Amino acid sequence: MTSSAAWRIEPVGPLFGDVSVRGSKNAVTKHMVAALLGDTPSQVTNAPQIGDVEITAGMLRALGAEVAIAEDAVVVDPQADLVGEVPVSFTGLNRIPILMLGPLLHRVGHVTVPLVGGDRIGARPVDFHVSALRALGAEVETTAEGVEAKAARLRGARIRLPYPSVGGTETVLLSAALAEGRTVLENSAIEPEVIELALFLQRMGARIELRPDRRFVIEGVERLSGASHRIGGDRIEAFSYLIAGLATGGRVRVYGCAQDRLVTAISTLHRMGARFEITDDWIEARADKLEPAVVQTHPHPGFMTDWQSPLVVLCTQADGMSVVHETVFEDRFAYIDALQAMGAEIELFDACLGGPGCRFHEADARHSVVIRGGRPLHGVEATIPDIRAGFAYVIAAAAAEGSSLLHDVHHLERGYSRPFESFAGLGLQITRIAG
Ligand code: EPZ
Repeated sequence: MTSSAAWRIEPVGPLFGDVSVRGSKNAVTKHMVAALLGDTPSQVTNAPQIGDVEITAGMLRALGAEVAIAEDAVVVDPQADLVGEVPVSFTGLNRIPILMLGPLLHRVGHVTVPLVGGDRIGARPVDFHVSALRALGAEVETTAEGVEAKAARLRGARIRLPYPSVGGTETVLLSAALAEGRTVLENSAIEPEVIELALFLQRMGARIELRPDRRFVIEGVERLSGASHRIGGDRIEAFSYLIAGLATGGRVRVYGCAQDRLVTAISTLHRMGARFEITDDWIEARADKLEPAVVQTHPHPGFMTDWQSPLVVLCTQADGMSVVHETVFEDRFAYIDALQAMGAEIELFDACLGGPGCRFHEADARHSVVIRGGRPLHGVEATIPDIRAGFAYVIAAAAAEGSSLLHDVHHLERGYSRPFESFAGLGLQITRIAG
C-alpha cells in the first residue's frame, strides 16, 4: 500500500451491477485476537482482503503466534511461547492492541500494548477497557506510550459499561472467558459483530449467555481450544454499495451480507423511497425519487454510526431538508467540508437536532447536520480523512458532475475489500495514481 496514492474519478452517471462483500472488518480482527485464547489453532474464512487483517497478523506474529493467510482463510496458531509486548511500531494503526490485553494476561501474565489508533472521529478513550480489566483483578497503568497490565489470574466480576461500547464489551468477553468464576456484564454492546465473537468463543469452549437487557453472563472455564468460523458479511460495505447505486440513480445488487444485519438500514432507506428486492443471496435497492430523512445514529439495533457518512451523501440527492444526528462519536462530520466544497448545502450544529438530547448535548461538538438536498454536486480534489468518510467521498464523486481527485486512498484499503475493483465493476471510471 502506498500511503499517498490517489484515485481520479470520472462520473459516468448511474452505477449498475453486482458487488460481493466479504466478511466484516470489525469482526475478523477480533476473531484473530480470540484465537490467542485457544490451546490449538483457530481458522476464520470469508476474511476480507484489507489492511487491518495484515496489521493484526503482524501484531500476532510479533507476539510469537503463527499466522497464515491464504485466499480468504486466516489460520492463527497460538501454541508457541508468547511474549507480552505488542511492539511500539504498531502505535496508532488500529484499535486492536487494547483487545489483546485480556488474552495476553491469561497467556503471559504481564502485557504492554502501544497507544491505539483508528479513525479520528472523536476522543476515543480506552477508560472502559481499563476499568473492566481492573474490575477483573488486573493491575493496569496507562502511560504516554500505551497501556501496561499484569495479573496472576483474572477473576470474574460484575461490570457495568457506562455506554454500550463495542470494544469495551469485546474486552470483557475476551478477558472473562478464561477468568476464574462468573462475570456479569451489564449495558453490553449487542452489535452483530459482538454476538459473532461471543459465538466464536462459545465454539472454543467458553460458557457465555446473553440475557435480556444487554447482559452477558460468562462462567470462566479452565481452557479453550481452537475453532473455525466463516465471518459474516460486512454490513457497512453492503450498505455503502447500496447507497452508491441509489445516490447515482442506479441499482446495485449486493451479495454476501444477510438481510438481518441490515434491518435498520433497509427500513431507513424504505422511508427515503428506496425499493428493495431481497433474496437469501442478495439485496438490491433502487429508487425513482428520494425523500429526505431524519435519522439518529445509535448502538445496535439502531442506525449504526458507520452508515452515517454514505447516508449524508444520499441525503444530498433527496429533494428537501434532511437531519442527521450522530450520537455515538462526537466528531464524525470532519468529511462535511469536502461535500460542501462539492456544492452540497450542509450546515453543522452542536445542538442535538431531530430527536432527544444525546451524551454530547453540552459538549462543544458539532454532531448534527442539516442537509438541503437536491443541489447538483461537482467534482473536487480532496484528502480522505478516514475509512468511512473516504467511501462517502467516492459515492459523492460518482454522483457529481466533473472529475474528482481523492488523495490518501490507503484509508479505503485498510477497511474495504478490493474497493477499486468493486467500483470499477459497477462501471465507475477510476484511475489509481501511485503516490
Ligand atoms: C467499534 O469501535 C468499531 N471499530 C467502529 O468502527 C464503530 O464505529 C464503533 O465500534 C461503534 O459501532 C472496530 O470494531 C475496530 P465503541 P469502538 O467502543 O469499539 C466511547 C469503522 O469505521 N468509549 O463502541 O472503538 C467512544 O468514545 C470504525 O469501522 C469511551 O468513552 O467503539 C464512543 O463515543 C470506526 N471509552 C462510544 O463509547 C471507552 O473506553 C462507542 O465506542 C470506549 C468507548
